[in-house]
Amino acid sequence: RAAGAVEGTVRGAIEPRRTTRLAVVGAGSVGATMAYAALMRGAARSVALYDINAAKVEAEALDIGHGIQFMPMADVTGSDDIAVCSGADVVVVTAGAKQRPDQSRLDLAEATVGLVRKIMPQLVEVAPNAVYVMVTNPVDIVTYAALKVSGLPPHQLFGSGTVLDSSRLRYLLAQHTGVAVQNIHAYIAGEHGDSEIPLWSSASIGSVPLTEWPGMPGPDGPVGRLGAADRERIAEEVVNSAYRIIAGKGATNYAVALAGSRIIEAVLNDERRILPVSSLLDDYKGISDVCLSVPSVVGSTGVGARLDIAMSREEHEGLRRSADAVRAVARRFGL
Ligand code: 2OP
Repeated sequence: RAAGAVEGTVRGAIEPRRTTRLAVVGAGSVGATMAYAALMRGAARSVALYDINAAKVEAEALDIGHGIQFMPMADVTGSDDIAVCSGADVVVVTAGAKQRPDQSRLDLAEATVGLVRKIMPQLVEVAPNAVYVMVTNPVDIVTYAALKVSGLPPHQLFGSGTVLDSSRLRYLLAQHTGVAVQNIHAYIAGEHGDSEIPLWSSASIGSVPLTEWPGMPGPDGPVGRLGAADRERIAEEVVNSAYRIIAGKGATNYAVALAGSRIIEAVLNDERRILPVSSLLDDYKGISDVCLSVPSVVGSTGVGARLDIAMSREEHEGLRRSADAVRAVARRFGL
């Protein structure tokens, strides 16, 4: 009896934690780096990589797997059989067309909407309860298409949206002001693409409103002040970041993978992080029936409340224009 009690206690103590199983669809540079980043950050205990190219997906999984000794406890599997995604808690979709230097993200819609129509029903069959994070571009169109095709409830599927663009914005602001990126609170909203807009009026550095940032004291007066011209230049640089990287190395992969991992962690740990993900808007400041990024609460059930963040008239107008631009493309593809 006593032994039984002890055994019971021990069994209770070693009960496994709930799973944190991640499936990454697409083993291209974004998908493979996403799997790598998620494992490195300890975001998931198990990662499944799926791609139609068997040799490529197996090679990527093997290469990552050889480094498992140096990562938090985890395992990685790669397969060209979609069943590898079965039972995933989170499915991240990165499969799609590669953006050429002369193309915008919206130019990829033709190639990727067809792929979404084909792949989503198969994924939902093997992982019906997963939270879906779409990364494939144009992410706002892809998210909208995936919602329509899958019939999943809008909280269960969303896009990585402007989480990456917002981190680019914060990086540039940190460089300009000389303040740690973690103390800069600023979001890019709207399309993950050319019509995106910075939400300057609600941004802050520390707790100082960004538009009133006085600069840091220097020997000859304040340094790193942020005037309207600086803000304009930085916003432009954010929009052009991906074009610049694609021109130089053919694709972006590191920062998007880290942003994706951040989103995955928010879901798997039910963190309720405020992240500018792309979700189906329903009368958000008068905007409906389009997937766009606005600061939203992300937790274990997916995307929750969209923040009713204060916007200037110009920002609100910009968000509307962005919604119109994305909606027009969605309609072109019968969505
Ligand atoms: C990026 O912004 C191309 O959407 C990709 O890095």
